[in-house]
Amino acid sequence: MKKRKFIQATALGITAFILGNISGRLIKSDKKNVKGKKIIAINGSPNENGNTAYALSIIGDVFRNENISFNIINIGQNDIRGCIACMNCRNEQSVCIHTTAEEKAWIETMKTADAVILASPTYFGGIAGSMKSFLDKAFYSSSKYLSHKPGAAVVTTQRTGASMTFEGLNQYFTINQMPVASSTYWNNIRGLTVDDLKQDGEGIRTLQNLAKNLIDML
Ligand SMILES: Cc1cc2nc3c(=O)[nH]c(=O)nc-3n(C[C@H](O)[C@H](O)[C@H](O)COP(=O)(O)O)c2cc1C
Repeated sequence: MKKRKFIQATALGITAFILGNISGRLIKSDKKNVKGKKIIAINGSPNENGNTAYALSIIGDVFRNENISFNIINIGQNDIRGCIACMNCRNEQSVCIHTTAEEKAWIETMKTADAVILASPTYFGGIAGSMKSFLDKAFYSSSKYLSHKPGAAVVTTQRTGASMTFEGLNQYFTINQMPVASSTYWNNIRGLTVDDLKQDGEGIRTLQNLAKNLIDML
């Protein structure tokens, strides 16, 4: 019995040591020939200069360093109708008749990208509402055009609920044959204000490592 407890404690210690080390470290990445690749991020936050925008700017700095084109579409201020399961998008063109011209343009931009980032603040432990409304329609109607593009989820929280938001965003990729970029922790940066986020060193490194891993996948 004593031996068993010793083994359990040792295993726990080793796991904690490994997690502590991998999550805190900046990973190296070699210079890659990714110049001219296009990455698009959908920002579901209603605050264009808020925390989620700051999280995306951390990633954007890594992409710029590799001469990758990186654009952000801010959708969070829009009045976006959700999917009503009318199945009209099962037409030949895969067009959702309940998307506005603007939403259609966002989907077209996603289709032309080499990789897609979905970013959202956490609202009550999940994806922000307008973001979810858009993603449901975009992926239900146009998933075939997004398959096989690498995807990455970016989440901001004041405190808790990041994992559920992260999981929710990843669902769009993993049902659609999209390889998911990961990092050295789950892709979240935490705080109430941008100044708080700047203090979250582990969150910043996690996002930088995510960007490097996404580049590796391109
Ligand atoms: C309606 C609403 C619900 C929220 N729910 C949560 C939550 O469940 N957990 C949490 O940690 N923060 C929550 N927050 C805080 C935001 O997720 C957090 O401040 C986020 O970083 C804001 O990002 P933004 O500045 O890009 O909008 C909520 C904020 C709002 C407005």
